[in-house]
Amino acid sequence: MENRRGIILAGGTGSRLHPSTISVSKQLMPVFDKPMIYYPLCTLMSAGMREILVITTPRDQDAFRNLLGDGSLLGISITYAVQAKPKGIAQALVIGEDEGFLDGHQSALVLGDNLFFGDEFDDQLLETNKPHVGATVFGYHVKNPKDYGVLGFDDDGRVTSIEEKPDNPQSNFAVTGLYFYDEHAPTYARTVRPSGRQELEITALNQAYLDRGELRVETLGTGTTWLDTGTHRSLLQASNFVGIIEERQGRRICCPEEVAWRKGWIDDAGFARAAEPVAKSNYGRYLLSLLD
Ligand code: TTP
Repeated sequence: MENRRGIILAGGTGSRLHPSTISVSKQLMPVFDKPMIYYPLCTLMSAGMREILVITTPRDQDAFRNLLGDGSLLGISITYAVQAKPKGIAQALVIGEDEGFLDGHQSALVLGDNLFFGDEFDDQLLETNKPHVGATVFGYHVKNPKDYGVLGFDDDGRVTSIEEKPDNPQSNFAVTGLYFYDEHAPTYARTVRPSGRQELEITALNQAYLDRGELRVETLGTGTTWLDTGTHRSLLQASNFVGIIEERQGRRICCPEEVAWRKGWIDDAGFARAAEPVAKSNYGRYLLSLLD
């Protein structure tokens, strides 16, 4: 069950966040109290993945290494690869294979600017992480489906279509930036032709699974929050969301150190070691308070 390998795609140009992202990666921007990449990292860890590949631009790799290291403080393994140009999300699977990281394993791919939150969601993650044939994507009800990959369903709730930014959306269910794939994903990704905008579209890879009758959709309920953080407004909303929950509940969300500790991947001493470098911040003080 814990054999699936996780990829965080954290490259791209972040042009909608210019000038903030001219010299710093979007996925290193803070979302309230922690860097954006902590959220998708926790998503993969919560699902049970301990082998993680972080794909960045060539420019930003060192900064991510400085932040996350080799994962040993978290009881996991983090390795790094670069995407030379932002040639599309599906290219992550090709890079994962070329780097020898996937090595015939099933995978999960998460976008570095996507934030998921909810107890029910954590249960869905654990279930979806079990080995299975085909691909699983997550559908989330949104007001503006035209901005996303959109799912269509038949009367029995089976998925019948997946369309990238359609003019006439078949439903309000957008495909989120978290995808679970069987071991064939890199092979299918290599057959995807670049789109009009010269990208290997993730929707085309998911379409390949749908064509084979092997695309599963999990819908996320109202108790689950999915946010992306690609614009100034959505970044601020995500920060406010995290700040409100954390201040109200007195607990923090998506702290990788805490996830690793609760999973038993590090013991109390290891947890204290992981918290120590950030002990002067409220974030670090929160982590250390968990040991009391
Ligand atoms: P986008 O938000 O679509 O693109 P972007 O991050 O480059 O931002 P902008 O549109 O403002 O220029 O990408 C979604 C996520 O996927 C984000 O985390 C970046 C990542 N990504 C890559 O790493 N490589 C790619 O080739 C693409 C298309 C996206």
